[in-house]
Amino acid sequence: MDYQQLLHDVMETARRAPARGRPADYIPALAEANPESFGMALATMDGEVYGAGDWEQPFSIQSVSKLFTLALALAEGGDDLWHRVGREPSGNPFNSLVQLETEAGIPRNPFINAGALVVTDRLLELTGDAAGAVREFLRAESGNATIGTDDTVAASEARSGHRNAALAHFIASYGNLRNPVDSVLAHYYAHCATAASCRDLALAGRFLARHGLRADGSRLLTRSEAKRINAVLLTCGTYDAAGEFAYRVGLPGKSGVGGGVLAVLPGRGAVCVWSPGLDAAGNSVLGVAALDALTTVTGWSVF
Ligand code: DON
Repeated sequence: MDYQQLLHDVMETARRAPARGRPADYIPALAEANPESFGMALATMDGEVYGAGDWEQPFSIQSVSKLFTLALALAEGGDDLWHRVGREPSGNPFNSLVQLETEAGIPRNPFINAGALVVTDRLLELTGDAAGAVREFLRAESGNATIGTDDTVAASEARSGHRNAALAHFIASYGNLRNPVDSVLAHYYAHCATAASCRDLALAGRFLARHGLRADGSRLLTRSEAKRINAVLLTCGTYDAAGEFAYRVGLPGKSGVGGGVLAVLPGRGAVCVWSPGLDAAGNSVLGVAALDALTTVTGWSVF
């Protein structure tokens, strides 16, 4: 199959979507993103990577980083994490506070902000540098040593991050953080503010298609752990739009408010799409439309 042509075609189809959405503006540095930016990359099992549009342009990966923090925390620390965070869809926006009190400080899943803060805390406990662990993993898997935190974006979120600070303190009040709140928030903002391209993320997401094997052939996760992460991505990776994403795209996937979506093609590879215009749930409008077109044309959905 001509993957290059395939990507061009599905992007053309996506451009026919009736709406474009708007870049996130609650993190002021992200509001400046160009809603016309649009790129897509597909990395195959053997490490070939194909791209179209702005596929090599770095963007703010935001919540896509949560896929990597979860994988690294499970790889380093095993199943103990699941005592501190659940794995059910929340049915609420990614930054919601409402379930935390009734559920005694145990976040519903690792991808809503509350859950990601607990995962970041766990990774910090295990490695001493949660943001650094994510950065090094992305560099190694993509072969791109320039990947790192955009400090302007991290600082912008830190200044406006009242909700995340509230979530972190609330979780800490239930004894579910091991590190000081300020350190957890700093590492969380730093890994969310990682700048990487569709090319980089498609390559870095391959380990989930390869049942836990890294680019160099070493094992990050057991086959069963990789399956479980894919399952949580499918049910929780796009927040309260996860049902719609499964319906339209039918792949495990993780979105971010920078406009990136990374999806796993089990047994085939990984695909990343980026366009900053978001829908009401915080998912890229063109990104979801392109993945919808991709699985419609190829039949590569997991269903
Ligand atoms: O904590 C936040 O709000 C951002 N750093 C990440 C949120 C995000 O990307 C949600 N995804 N769609």
